[in-house]
Amino acid sequence: MTSESIFAYTQANKAAWNASAHLHGQGASWDRLLLAAAQPGFNVLDDCLISTLRELAIAGRSAVQIGCNNARELLSLAALGAQPLLGIDQSSAFLAQGAVLADRAGLHPRLLEANIYQLPSDLGQHDLALITIGVTNWMPDLDGFFKAVRGLMRSGGHLVIYETHPILEMFNPDASNPFQPEISYFEKSPIRIENSITYDGSDGGAGETGYWFVHTLGEIVSACVQNGFQLQSLQEHPHMNREEDYAVYQNRSAQLPLCYTLVAQAA
Ligand SMILES: C[S@@+](CC[C@H](N)C(=O)[O-])C[C@H]1O[C@@H](n2cnc3c(N)ncnc32)[C@H](O)[C@@H]1O
Repeated sequence: MTSESIFAYTQANKAAWNASAHLHGQGASWDRLLLAAAQPGFNVLDDCLISTLRELAIAGRSAVQIGCNNARELLSLAALGAQPLLGIDQSSAFLAQGAVLADRAGLHPRLLEANIYQLPSDLGQHDLALITIGVTNWMPDLDGFFKAVRGLMRSGGHLVIYETHPILEMFNPDASNPFQPEISYFEKSPIRIENSITYDGSDGGAGETGYWFVHTLGEIVSACVQNGFQLQSLQEHPHMNREEDYAVYQNRSAQLPLCYTLVAQAA
């Protein structure tokens, strides 16, 4: 993919995220987040991710989150003893919410508005890089993405990806038969997202057009190891870590993988 196309897609995605931000910075769940952030030990991470991070002994380590959104997860790393130093996201509107949460939590990470494909050079080299739910699918180019992530890390540092499983891209949880595949696992055309981005399945109305990219698990792992990382583990999980409407795929006798944890070490 050309750098012009990468720029065009990521600019569109930036507009889509910024246009959706107001839906996330108001209402009951935002109010709960504001209250929670002010409590000692603020931590929104689930048990699966906490257990991965504890095994890596991240206490005292400097951390960066790529696609940090409102920084709730980045800030949560402090409860595990890490130093949440840097959050990167290209949505200024979500970072503004992150600044409010950081203030409530009494933490002072640098929240940087930047496109991961066009990072400035003064960002330091961190011990831990975290990427979570719903980031990789907004990336038009995996090689450039992992190259940029590698540039944020010191050799020996750990990359943790806790993402939704690519197989879920085949299914539509809101279809009359949510188990009928609708999209090829190997889809290569970007999928246009026309609606505002919400997490709870609610209809936020029309939004700015964004572009969602289907990547296979093989493509993700390959791009990771080909851009300066050594794979340490890849675990697929039966539990769900994405929008509520995907709960239909959970707790079934013939269980799909619903999310995965990838741990890699910067070479
Ligand atoms: C689904 S959200 C991450 C949510 C986060 N995992 C959480 O649970 O709080 C994805 C984020 O990636 C950001 N993003 C998408 N493309 C990006 C890019 N090219 N550079 C930087 N950030 C990007 C979006 O602005 C958005 O905030």
